[in-house]
Amino acid sequence: MKNGQIWQDVDGKDIQAHGGCILQYRDRFYWYGENKGAPNCPSRNRVDVIGISCYSSGNLVDWKYEGIVLKAEPDPESPLHFSKVVERPKVLYNEKTNRFVMWMHLDSPDYSFSGVGIAAAEQPTGPFRLIRTTHPNRQESRDMTLYRDEDGAAYLIHAKDWNKTMNIARLNESYTDLDGTYVSVMTDQEREAPALCKHGGLYYMVTSGCTGWAPNSALYAVSPHIMGHWKLIDNPCEGPDSRKTFFGQSSFLFAVNQKHYLMLDHWSPENLQKSGYSILPVTFDEEGIMTVRWKDTWDGPEE
Ligand code: GAL
Repeated sequence: MKNGQIWQDVDGKDIQAHGGCILQYRDRFYWYGENKGAPNCPSRNRVDVIGISCYSSGNLVDWKYEGIVLKAEPDPESPLHFSKVVERPKVLYNEKTNRFVMWMHLDSPDYSFSGVGIAAAEQPTGPFRLIRTTHPNRQESRDMTLYRDEDGAAYLIHAKDWNKTMNIARLNESYTDLDGTYVSVMTDQEREAPALCKHGGLYYMVTSGCTGWAPNSALYAVSPHIMGHWKLIDNPCEGPDSRKTFFGQSSFLFAVNQKHYLMLDHWSPENLQKSGYSILPVTFDEEGIMTVRWKDTWDGPEE
């Protein structure tokens, strides 16, 4: 897979799973993301909502299309109507309920609704059914991610106050709602596209700046506890084009065989359906400094 370009599935079709996430369940990986497989709306850098796609793979390179697991709806009142915004879906498996739970950014076309949607399914390949929409802890929510900790507790990390600040909000035991505990972190830093991982007992959060589809510098923050205190460190990217995150934007951090990887979207604003992907290795030195370097190809995780 050539990093930075649109990738193809095992049938040779473009993978439509932008702003995505990867879930490992049993011996397979599931990649969920925004299906943007249609021309841009005339004179606008958007594609009408199609739904959330799912792909599955045994090796993170050969991806089989599993279909649209949450579809856009024709009812103009529905939060999933074609004209709205459905972005950055993230999926967790809940062991207590044996269900797959998806959280996503739901918005009005002008991004003024700024909420989340919660959907659930019995199988990783769906179908997912929207349970509810909400404003987490009565606050705005735009770019978001989910993080499941080693103890099974899960968190929603979401940009609020027109992206000025990031909130970390704990989910309830079934992952289908919030439990009311939250903190605001990185106040006034204006970050979006959050992605989290844990290494050496520390939590790491990679974010992008707020420049729409245009690339900017990534920044990471570190904390000994997920609920803070988060300390801003630096741009984790190194080498040519590192100040533009290699022309990408963070979508997800995941680990396989104890090695961490950062997934990026390479947005193509004039023709969003051709937006590319990359998966880059993440390294940590003895002092916990996080580094992401460009690699021309993604060949699957290291052994
Ligand atoms: C980006 C955001 C994307 C999408 C885009 C719309 O900054 O990360 O998920 O919302 O803006 O312009």
